[in-house]
Amino acid sequence: MSKILICYYSKSGNTEKMAKEISRGVEESDADVEVDLKEVDETQIESLPKYDCIILGSPTYYGLPCGDIKKFLDESIKHHGDLEGLVGGAFTSSANTAGGNETTIVALLESLIIHGMIVKGMPKGDHYGPVAVGEPGEKELKHCSYYGKWMAEFTEKIASLEV
Ligand SMILES: Cc1cc2nc3c(=O)[nH]c(=O)nc-3n(C[C@H](O)[C@H](O)[C@H](O)COP(=O)(O)O)c2cc1C
Repeated sequence: MSKILICYYSKSGNTEKMAKEISRGVEESDADVEVDLKEVDETQIESLPKYDCIILGSPTYYGLPCGDIKKFLDESIKHHGDLEGLVGGAFTSSANTAGGNETTIVALLESLIIHGMIVKGMPKGDHYGPVAVGEPGEKELKHCSYYGKWMAEFTEKIASLEV
């Protein structure tokens, strides 16, 4: 069984709603995976290598991930080299449509790439990873659950490869 971590920070609840819906998508997939949904301050850096997939969620702060998530990434240097080949993904909540949400996701994915992780775009839905402007509505939540399902299936495929 593959293991997926959804690790997020949320101050006013929007990113958290997205995280829960992504988690629901993972659980509803047919893939043989289990999911841990954790706020960043309850996520142990030491636990990272046990996952097959790590998905990070952050509000957009000045077009970038928030400080708590950046701090977590900086501390993840403890496992530099250990996360190579894991699947990675990211999602964000912003206040404005063009408020830097895609740059936030790309910044998160860049860090995962530096860890040697595998990130992949989405041909359907939100191409870089799920985005919501303000409180996520029906359409955004649908993208989140689709993303969770898709990540679960992709993780299962990658985990089954012997590389
Ligand atoms: C310090 C700070 C910086 C922010 N910067 C941006 C920004 O650059 N662009 C934007 O659209 N929203 C920005 N926002 C708004 C948040 O991204 C938005 O309210 C988000 O939905 C909060 O997510 P949360 O409910 O998970 O905490 C900022 C909010 C704060 C507190």
